[in-house]
Amino acid sequence: MLPFDARAHFGRKKGHGTRAGQVERLNRLLPAYAIDLTAPPPDPLTALFRDSVEAVRLEIGFGSGEHLLHQARANPHIGFIGCEAFEGGVAKLLGGAEPDRPGNLRLHFGDALDVLDWLPAGGLSRIDLFYPDPWPKRRHWKRRFVNTDRTERMAALLKPGGEFRFASDISSNITWTLMQVGHCAAFRWTAQRAGDWQEPWADWHRTRYEAKAVREGRRPAYLAFERV
Ligand SMILES: C[S@@+](CC[C@H](N)C(=O)[O-])C[C@H]1O[C@@H](n2cnc3c(N)ncnc32)[C@H](O)[C@@H]1O
Repeated sequence: MLPFDARAHFGRKKGHGTRAGQVERLNRLLPAYAIDLTAPPPDPLTALFRDSVEAVRLEIGFGSGEHLLHQARANPHIGFIGCEAFEGGVAKLLGGAEPDRPGNLRLHFGDALDVLDWLPAGGLSRIDLFYPDPWPKRRHWKRRFVNTDRTERMAALLKPGGEFRFASDISSNITWTLMQVGHCAAFRWTAQRAGDWQEPWADWHRTRYEAKAVREGRRPAYLAFERV
């Protein structure tokens, strides 16, 4: 049994390919990483990880997990929580993590909002949201992950000085996010010059989704907001 039926929540999230293989991989590998949201979060939150870590980051909708795995390997002193509702993406990440099974990585296969509800206030040093589903049609904009309520919730989860990072290739979604986050007094957009949103962060790891966007001629923007 899978812990979560993504179809019920997100429409077609099964992707293509060998479903049986994905299910087998999830059942076999996910339990070592899955977070039990029915129990309260450990205090301190850093105790969630097998390895000893100093801070905790969250990546929402990690897709196939390229960025998340890269970050976990590059930062062994930081704990990473990844959330993804797409079965095929979680299966890919689990496969990618097999060689070294990072002890600073935990996952939630399902709705990231449940993790936002579970996490303690001030528990995170960074939240990453990259290429969220764009919902380009105007009448669907309300379905976008970022809205004023979620912005407030994310701000509450970050420590002062923490960071919310957002990337997208859809200009209406970029403007939308700037406006939604702009309503939140707890966040400050850190950009000083155009390059700050036109160029990726120094520790950025390109995802398959971004590579496709760039191939198709779309230009990404990288927004960073400081939790004041
Ligand atoms: C366009 S993809 C981008 C994936 C990845 N961030 C990247 O840059 O390659 C958006 C992802 O967010 C996931 N997603 C959307 N809403 C979600 C939610 N509420 N909780 C968890 N994952 C979500 C989708 O399943 C999808 O894999």
